[in-house]
Formats: sequence, structure tokens, C-alpha cells
Amino acid sequence: MEYKYERNKENYEDFASGRVLYNAQGTTAFPVRLASEIVQRCFQVLEAKGSKGPYSIYDPCCGGAYLLTVIGLLHNDRIQRIYASDINADVLGIAEKNLSLLTVTGINKRKEQIKEYIRLYNKASHISALESAERLSSCIAGSNMESVTAFQSDVTASDNKVIHNRVNIVITDLPYGDIVTWRSDSSDPLVDFFDSVYDLLEPTHSVLAVIADKSQKLKHEKFRRIEFVKIGKRQMALFEPIKASN
Ligand SMILES: C[S@@+](CC[C@H](N)C(=O)[O-])C[C@H]1O[C@@H](n2cnc3c(N)ncnc32)[C@H](O)[C@@H]1O
Repeated sequence: MEYKYERNKENYEDFASGRVLYNAQGTTAFPVRLASEIVQRCFQVLEAKGSKGPYSIYDPCCGGAYLLTVIGLLHNDRIQRIYASDINADVLGIAEKNLSLLTVTGINKRKEQIKEYIRLYNKASHISALESAERLSSCIAGSNMESVTAFQSDVTASDNKVIHNRVNIVITDLPYGDIVTWRSDSSDPLVDFFDSVYDLLEPTHSVLAVIADKSQKLKHEKFRRIEFVKIGKRQMALFEPIKASN
């Protein structure tokens, strides 16, 4: 894939999982450059539809919300509301902690925690983490973020009771591999995933970005696929919902 927005490889160590962003068993990280590239492609699709933002964004398989937190840190001037959900209640605590870093209170709390580690252990890694936290703090100055909500939900079961206003962007890194697999009673989780997010997307001004391993077929009758790329072991597709005819 050729990068259109994140043309240069930057140093993303400030975003490293476990440094300032929290990590835990059962959660995964996501390449920062790729996350930023994909969300900017989503912004571009919405702009072309006449929607200038700020936008609402939802990850229905959020894990520890690493992807959403990185996006929120880098692009909070363009995002108003974040929703995050996962079927696994055990990862939602980490998701909430990561998403708290998008607020002044949350990042200050993390800074105090790292300062305490420095007092206790005086390790070089904690000193550099504090420097990263200071730089991430400056990322959220000028943020347009109004709300951040994390909740438990099975995306294949259409059981959402939390999102009342339809969203502009659904972005998700689908479960695959050894650490995280689909958990669902559905006979076809991928089809049910598409069906369920269709009902949550704003009909005209919305875009769906799906990242997956190469084994999953990224297509569905209710969506028009508008971009498709391969990036190493992953594939990524952007979709727009096809309007239901009356
Ligand atoms: C690849 S991980 C996502 C990682 C996340 N993007 C991040 O940045 O931390 C996939 C997630 O899908 C979740 N998952 C599996 N089946 C699900 C389902 N039916 N509904 C919602 N989430 C599900 C897993 O619990 C896992 O956390």
C-alpha cells in the first residue's frame, strides 16, 4: 500500500503499548502510522460526501482500545465522540484507561503514576515514559472531543443499546489469530458483523473501515467497497453503506 497521508515514517515511540498507553494480557496493539493513514482516508471520504466533521467514531471490537486511543491522540481536532465496545468484559477496563488518556484528567493521572514509578525505581524507561506523556499531553490541547464511551457488546448479535445517534465512522481491526478470535454464537460472524454495523452508521455521511487478516472475505451486500489494500499480513477495506430503497 502506498501511504497518501502518512508519507513519512515517523518515530511513534510515544505511543508504544505499555509506555504511556496501557496494555494487558489479551489486548493487542496496532501500527500507529497505518491507523493514522486509514482514519485520514475515512475523513477524506466523508469530506467528499460534504461532511466536514467533527465526526463520531466507533470500534465495535475495540480490545484495549489501542487503535481508538492512537486515533484520538492524533486526530482529536476532527473527532467529537468516540464509542468503543468489545464482547470481552475483561479488556474493557484497559480500554477505559487508554481512552481516559484523551482527557486532561486522565493523562495527568497517568503522569502522576509514572512519576511515582520514577520515585520508587528511578528507571530510565520511566523517565522516557514521562517525557512521552508530556508530548502526548500537548496532542490533546485543542481537542474537539465531547464524549468517550466504552461498553460491552457482541457485534455479531446486534445488541447495541448504547449508541443512540448513528455514527460517521466505524473502524475496526477484526479478531483473528492466536490472541483474539471471533467469540460468537453466530454461524457466520463476519456477515453478522456487517449487518449489525450497517444499522449504526449514519446513512449518508458515513464510512466503514475494516482491517483483517487475509483469510476473511471483506464484502457484504449492504455495502459498496470503495477501497481495498493489502498491507503485509493484513488487508484493509473501506465501505460506504448502500442506502435502503423505500
Ligand atoms: C484484533 S482485536 C482488536 C484490537 C483493538 N483494535 C485494539 O486496538 O486494541 C479483536 C477484538 O475483537 C473482540 N471480539 C471477538 N469477538 C467479538 C464479538 N463477537 N463482538 C465484539 N468483539 C469481539 C476480541 O475480544 C478482541 O478484543
